[in-house]
Amino acid sequence: MQVVESHGARIPVIGFGTMTLKQELCIELVEAALHLGYRHLDTAQNYGNEREVGEGLRASGFKREEIFLTTKVWFNRLAAGDFERSVDESLERLKLPFVDLLLIHWPNAQIPLAQSIGALCRVKRSGLAKHIGVANFNVAMLEEAHKLASEPLACLQIEAHPYLDQTKIIAAARRHGMAVVAYCPLARGKVPGDETLQRIGRAHGKTPAQVALAYLEGQRIIPIPRTSKRERLAENLSSLELSLSAAEMAEIDKLKRPNARIVSPPQAPQWDS
Ligand SMILES: NC(=O)c1ccc[n+]([C@@H]2O[C@H](COP(=O)([O-])OP(=O)(O)OC[C@H]3O[C@@H](n4cnc5c(N)ncnc54)[C@H](OP(=O)(O)O)[C@@H]3O)[C@@H](O)[C@H]2O)c1
Repeated sequence: MQVVESHGARIPVIGFGTMTLKQELCIELVEAALHLGYRHLDTAQNYGNEREVGEGLRASGFKREEIFLTTKVWFNRLAAGDFERSVDESLERLKLPFVDLLLIHWPNAQIPLAQSIGALCRVKRSGLAKHIGVANFNVAMLEEAHKLASEPLACLQIEAHPYLDQTKIIAAARRHGMAVVAYCPLARGKVPGDETLQRIGRAHGKTPAQVALAYLEGQRIIPIPRTSKRERLAENLSSLELSLSAAEMAEIDKLKRPNARIVSPPQAPQWDS
């Protein structure tokens, strides 16, 4: 699979998002996704499924180094010391010696950024995370994080889909050579009913979900769609076969609208975005 390169990280251009997937279904879908051709898995401490994601990876029979796995540290574990303990706990649940990418899941205004970025960099130096990055940071926080970091921040994970304008934060990430990963790439199920995406899809014999994913992939933004249905794993993966014209990309650009954000911070009043 093609990769996006960033500060030594080689991130497969589409990943399988696992939020809400639990128990046997999660194990089965992770294993099925890898057999279909996915090479990139996205989990988090907060999803309560690191155990199952690790199990699915092992059940697939793929070698550890063939798969790119991301986990995230939840906002209440960002204090120095607790951060490192929480990473040890994640690796115990995953039953893995390291993750490929470790992200701060959300910033926490109660904990100085210097502490959490310091801990993130220490985890990278210890080898427990091959690469590090952040999620849900705004431009100011991202700039501060780069000033504080003693190791390269390879990735920014943010909400991104055809309805949400993320131009400024994506430009900031790219100024620092970061890869951009898109969560909620299907706008949590809003995409399939969209008439513009349906029409563009019909012209290519593709579904609206595939069009939305190809729209991100065409900008070198890495989508991590989630599904609980096996047949949709293949549908989403084959978005990689679709190349949209400049006119189609421009038409999808016009779907952006105010208040399109789906996910709110875990403690909303503390952050401006
Ligand atoms: N860093 C963060 O703060 C953060 C926040 C949110 C999410 N994430 C990550 O990003 C991943 C993706 O985001 P998400 O799960 O919130 O939203 P999403 O991937 O945009 O949407 C998932 C929804 O779309 C449906 N779906 C999937 N494929 C489809 C298809 N081909 N056609 C029609 N419907 C389809 C799924 O339903 P079915 O299950 O019925 O297919 C599910 O309801 C998460 O799983 C997680 O790994 C990160």
